[in-house]
Amino acid sequence: MANDLLKGKRGIIFGALNNQSIAWKVAQRAHEEGATFVLTNAPIAMRMGEINELAAQTGSQVIPADATSVEDLEKLITESMEILGGKIDFILHSIGMSPNVRKGKHYTDINYSWYNQTLDVSAGSLHKTLSTAMKLDAINDWGSVVALTYIAAQRIFPDYNDMADAKSLLESITRSFGYHYGIQKKVRVNTISQSPTVTTAGQGIKGFTEFINFSEQMSPLGNASAEACADYCISMFSDLTRYVTMQNLFHDGGFSNTGVTQQVIERFGE
Ligand SMILES: NC(=O)c1ccc[n+]([C@@H]2O[C@H](COP(=O)([O-])OP(=O)(O)OC[C@H]3O[C@@H](n4cnc5c(N)ncnc54)[C@H](O)[C@@H]3O)[C@@H](O)[C@H]2O)c1
Repeated sequence: MANDLLKGKRGIIFGALNNQSIAWKVAQRAHEEGATFVLTNAPIAMRMGEINELAAQTGSQVIPADATSVEDLEKLITESMEILGGKIDFILHSIGMSPNVRKGKHYTDINYSWYNQTLDVSAGSLHKTLSTAMKLDAINDWGSVVALTYIAAQRIFPDYNDMADAKSLLESITRSFGYHYGIQKKVRVNTISQSPTVTTAGQGIKGFTEFINFSEQMSPLGNASAEACADYCISMFSDLTRYVTMQNLFHDGGFSNTGVTQQVIERFGE
């Protein structure tokens, strides 16, 4: 149901790879709520061309950018303001990638050059985006930046590997930059910590199917879907959440505050 929550707002949405991507759903919801935005992804992710379908659906333009390249980000943010006709009101950072996860390296034996890539792509890119936007004075007062994260930043989930370190860093950047951007321009910066979700990035994690079932049974409301995550992102971009900043917001059906559920404990009596 659309309520014009983002009417007149301009945004940049990172990370829509295919129609499973959380960013894809956010773009569809943002469009329904009256926003205009630019879609962006790494040049290599454009090869399949699926993003063009989303661009057509939402009347958006696509600008390729490697989110680890400050030069690409400067071009992306400058051109987005030209295309959209003014400063930006919201940014979705929906980016994650670990070569160590992809190539099956164990956490205790990671390749350190890949580790640097994991941290740069999955966390450093948020710092670079915020810093570039600040230098270009590209975000309107009370603008809202949301990055997606996972609870492995706080608790050990063995197969999440070095992505756990990246998410901890992402959440720390959110607090630190949120402070400075809040003081300077009243821009808000938050992370949303989402349930495991079937997407290309999610499925890259070893044992993902078992894990998603475990999480479902450990969450009083069940796992939150990508569509529900998109709804939450929209509320965070809207003016209804203006005083929320520097937070890690759990969107996980209650998983993060559950020690055990009856459903799970009964399995141990078998
Ligand atoms: N799927 C889950 O279970 C889950 C749970 C919690 C949080 N998240 C987070 O949600 C976010 C979105 O992931 P998703 O699950 O929608 O998967 P996805 O694979 O659809 O999205 C990840 C995106 O990151 C992009 N990306 C990778 N390297 C990049 C670079 N150098 N520059 C720009 N973009 C780059 C990819 O092209 C892709 O579009 C990620 O931060 C992920 O960690 C996912």
